[in-house]
Amino acid sequence: MSTFARTYQLGARIAYFFLPKKRMRMKEGIGSSENFAYYLKRLGYLNPLVISSKDLYDLGLLECYKGLRKAGLVGHLYLIDRAGEGHIDAAIEAKCRYIELNCDCIVSIGGGSIIDVAKMAGVLVANPSATPFTVSGKLKVTRRPPYHLAIPTTAGSGSEATVAAVLMSRRGRLIMISPKIRPDLVILDAEMLRKLPPKIVAASGMDALVHATESYLNCFAVPKGRRNSLSAVRLIFNNLMPLYVDPSDGEAGSRMLEASYLAGKAFSDNYVGCAHALAHAMASKVNYPHGYLTALFLPLVLKRYLGKSNHRLAKLYEAAGGRGAEDEIQKAEGFILMVEELNRSMGILPLKGKLEEAELQEVAYKAEKEANPLYPTPKMMKKDALLAILKESFEDAGQ
Ligand SMILES: [Fe+2]
Repeated sequence: MSTFARTYQLGARIAYFFLPKKRMRMKEGIGSSENFAYYLKRLGYLNPLVISSKDLYDLGLLECYKGLRKAGLVGHLYLIDRAGEGHIDAAIEAKCRYIELNCDCIVSIGGGSIIDVAKMAGVLVANPSATPFTVSGKLKVTRRPPYHLAIPTTAGSGSEATVAAVLMSRRGRLIMISPKIRPDLVILDAEMLRKLPPKIVAASGMDALVHATESYLNCFAVPKGRRNSLSAVRLIFNNLMPLYVDPSDGEAGSRMLEASYLAGKAFSDNYVGCAHALAHAMASKVNYPHGYLTALFLPLVLKRYLGKSNHRLAKLYEAAGGRGAEDEIQKAEGFILMVEELNRSMGILPLKGKLEEAELQEVAYKAEKEANPLYPTPKMMKKDALLAILKESFEDAGQ
């Protein structure tokens, strides 16, 4: 199994170098989202479909939409309610609106689930005979979607920078992976974070840390991706706590948006790992945000890499600003302690309640299926190892 998986992962890495890459542009700065209409106008786009959420509208975070009229553009707003966020039905509806209203580009304003809906809507517009099911999977998108400008309103999912979209359907979760679905322009504006509840800041910020850490540790990683991972880790350890304490802190927000973007680019290059496989599989059993689960699983997974990835864990310790450790082993252990401490200080604690043995077995089975052979993790973990991690993630573990 291990030899097959490593051969598969090496083959995927070699193929990666031959895939066409889509150039992405980024603008940043407090208040920069207000200029989005001018960016579009300069590029010749006059009638965007702006995809966002009703919650953000109610919070008054879509003021920038008024900029369309000022810039002399037409534009239409498509708002998704909470139940529709991240669902294929919303993407199908957005595609119909785009065609009916004769739009010429897409703007997404929201968290990862809104940006992912916009990615899918764009793919369906450009590929009229496709359905969300036929374009899900790896490299199934044939025609390039319309121009997509993304304005993230959380700092963590990294969707604004990734080649993937995760959507829900009545048949379960769909993952679409293609370099063609990366947004063309990203605007990072910390103003969009100022009304985030601290719990969302914590979960999404830790998700960015998990993206950066897992992509850094993976085998066959692209060096540029590893550099992005280390930069993201540095930014997160310096800025996540200040943003958690005060979501209106513009400087911390700007740096966390940058970290999320870099971590998103890193995991598009180098994949994620078992913390993600476990979180995805666990999502159907417990009601915790994705970032909460990945953050909780990360230190438990990293402990299994001690002795195997000490050198890289030590580099992460240094990037995180760790002090006092004298050798590589202490640094590797120190990084894991730093992640645990960050989790604790933001209320990311072991899960309450319990699952039956059969349910845990099912989650571990799904996690193994997702991780192997796709994720080039430093140590391949089979179902039993993943099951042990799952059991440790509960409050009453070991009782
Ligand atoms: Fe994630």
